[in-house]
Amino acid sequence: MIFHKDSKLLVDDLSANSVHSVITDPPYGMEFMGLDWDKVLPDRSIWKACFEVMCPGAFLLAFGHTRLYHRLGCDLEDEGFEIKDCLCWGYASGYPHSYNISKAIDQKHGAEREVIGKRVHPTLRNAPNVKSNAYHADTLISDEEMESWDITAPATDDAKKWDGWGTQLKTAWEPIVMAQKPLEGTYIENVLKYKVGGLNIDECRLPYKNEDDMKRLASFEHFAGKNYGDDKYFSANSGNKKQCNIHPLGRWPANLVWMEPMFAQYDHIFMIPKPSKKEKGQKNTHETVKPIELMERLIRLVTPLPSVVGEDVLVLDPFMGSGTTGIAARNLGRKFYGYEKNKASYVIAKRRLQAKVKFFDMFAR
Ligand SMILES: C[S@@+](CC[C@H](N)C(=O)[O-])C[C@H]1O[C@@H](n2cnc3c(N)ncnc32)[C@H](O)[C@@H]1O
Repeated sequence: MIFHKDSKLLVDDLSANSVHSVITDPPYGMEFMGLDWDKVLPDRSIWKACFEVMCPGAFLLAFGHTRLYHRLGCDLEDEGFEIKDCLCWGYASGYPHSYNISKAIDQKHGAEREVIGKRVHPTLRNAPNVKSNAYHADTLISDEEMESWDITAPATDDAKKWDGWGTQLKTAWEPIVMAQKPLEGTYIENVLKYKVGGLNIDECRLPYKNEDDMKRLASFEHFAGKNYGDDKYFSANSGNKKQCNIHPLGRWPANLVWMEPMFAQYDHIFMIPKPSKKEKGQKNTHETVKPIELMERLIRLVTPLPSVVGEDVLVLDPFMGSGTTGIAARNLGRKFYGYEKNKASYVIAKRRLQAKVKFFDMFAR
């Protein structure tokens, strides 16, 4: 079910203790690309509403920005959630929104800088004009203009002293806060009553790259055992060490989801590319579309299986945008409630869901 309305009102549609997970990509409060809806972090009343409709022990996973993530975490904590972890989605391909201090000094002095070359975007192969990576772009520019820009030499003495200095790093990852509505009783009591509270470790294991990878790990000696892992997968070896009898499904899931080559043995698992135009769907003009695979991974980690809960296992996204969480939830056989207050985005979500998901049974209001 998807709604064109403010998610502050979600309590009108959902009863208390009925939602099994909240997976969402809310406004970051960064005014990204000048977007109106991104100006401020979500109103705390929305987190309060989520808390009310979530089952005890259910998880809420929300994306944030490295600069304002702490505020998002505090807001959730203030509304009663427990912060359990911080997941990292790395993509390494962001742009540095850095201010070139040397250039700004010349500008302030009214001095003109001499153009000494062209800087070509480093991802362009065989770019003959790339001279040095000591120069940075001053502002974020569009894809078409990204190919090259002027390299200029400092004109004034002050600018020479500050050549190569900027104001910001490139954003290469996004934090995802993992918050949990407090358990009712123990983990076991909560899991048996509400069917939530745990993480689906085996469904989210990181598969081995190949036979060699598997064998290499099997011969690795760990200090793990009864207290630090599943005893079944560790057996006694020499000394105090344990031989690792590796789990057939793969490595233990990590709080890292990466999408650029990093650690050779992990790349094949962590790599989740940003969505292609095809994945986004026709005429999807939403500015911040997340990859379906990434949303699926998050849903699988914290949302109970329909085979355990039945057809009513429910995923909620109070900031649906173009509906990616909904597509992921429906791909995995979970029910979905999504809220979007912007009409154009809501229409995109509706179209995407209808096109992607067979028998899409939601009639938006
Ligand atoms: C970061 S985008 C989500 C994008 C989404 N992950 C996707 O893949 O398309 C956040 C969305 O939340 C919507 N939004 C912001 N505040 C809202 C509110 N109070 N109620 C409903 N939607 C809201 C914005 O219009 C925006 O489309």
